[in-house]
Amino acid sequence: MFATNHKAMKTILSFLLLIFTATLSTDIQAQPDKKEWAIALHGGAGFVSKDMPEERKKAYYAALEEALAIGEEILKNGGSALDAVEQTIKYLEDNELFNAGRGSVFTAEGKNELDAAIMDGKALNAGAITGVTTVKNPISLARKVMEESRHVFFAGNGAEKFADETDVERVDTEYFKIQRRYDEWKRANKQTGYNLEKLENNSWKMGTVGCVALDKDGNLIAGTSTGGMTNKKYGRVGDVPIIGSGTYANDMVAVSATGWGERIMLNVSAHTLAAYMKYTNSDLKSSMDYLVDEVLNPKEAGFIAVDKHGNFSMRTNTGSMFRAASNSNGKRVVAIWED
Ligand code: GLY
Repeated sequence: MFATNHKAMKTILSFLLLIFTATLSTDIQAQPDKKEWAIALHGGAGFVSKDMPEERKKAYYAALEEALAIGEEILKNGGSALDAVEQTIKYLEDNELFNAGRGSVFTAEGKNELDAAIMDGKALNAGAITGVTTVKNPISLARKVMEESRHVFFAGNGAEKFADETDVERVDTEYFKIQRRYDEWKRANKQTGYNLEKLENNSWKMGTVGCVALDKDGNLIAGTSTGGMTNKKYGRVGDVPIIGSGTYANDMVAVSATGWGERIMLNVSAHTLAAYMKYTNSDLKSSMDYLVDEVLNPKEAGFIAVDKHGNFSMRTNTGSMFRAASNSNGKRVVAIWED
């Protein structure tokens, strides 16, 4: 009798142990909150009025949807975050609604001088270029700098020379010029300097485009591309190609900035978010709030970020930011204003 009970007890215990072990390993593997992939993009922060003509609003939403779909498709199919970021930004550079590639703002000398950067957070490697004038897609040249050179950052003639050694598409400088930007530049020339109030009153967008992504292999990539600031002076370099300012990624988070480049640079903004997250053990939302609300002043900048868990965050303190994001859990946002 005792022997039979003992045997039955042993069987029950083994069964319970088996269930416990199986549950434990399922928990470890499934991690219900972990998303397989995530992507966020921006088409510039600024002071865009909600009274924007309906047609124009539609055009922006359609462009954001299309850009997001490009990155999503790559990530869903197991493609790399690097390809997703490059291809999404290429689309935004080619779309003249945005201040990057074709449709970039004019310099004080009436030229278009473009900046871009891309960073691989896992490899802690980056590529950046500033002041290029004939490269159709600066983000692709930045990627080449990261993958095919011993260096991180090429400027002006040097960047053009490096481009000569690659197969990136080149264009005549006229390609970048569009009438709307020319008119903005003409107006800017009648005014003085970079007075933010004047920028705001004129509803000028402090444009730039950017994309951050996490892929199924856990790679985190950040990329940003811009024509810079309207009426910028000779040789002016903004935050975008300065690694850690407008663009940064590590093994925890990828960040891209948009807005007033000088202020973003002075606060080493993208790196500040990443460092805050790492050293205070904070989540993405708190780290983003710290940067936007406590580090920068109101009306200066916006940011997008994706963390290693596939969470995304997009915030601006300027009133508007063309933006879109999604992840593998089905969360999806396409927006311009706060609500
Ligand atoms: N944030 C873009 C620039 O200031 O160049």
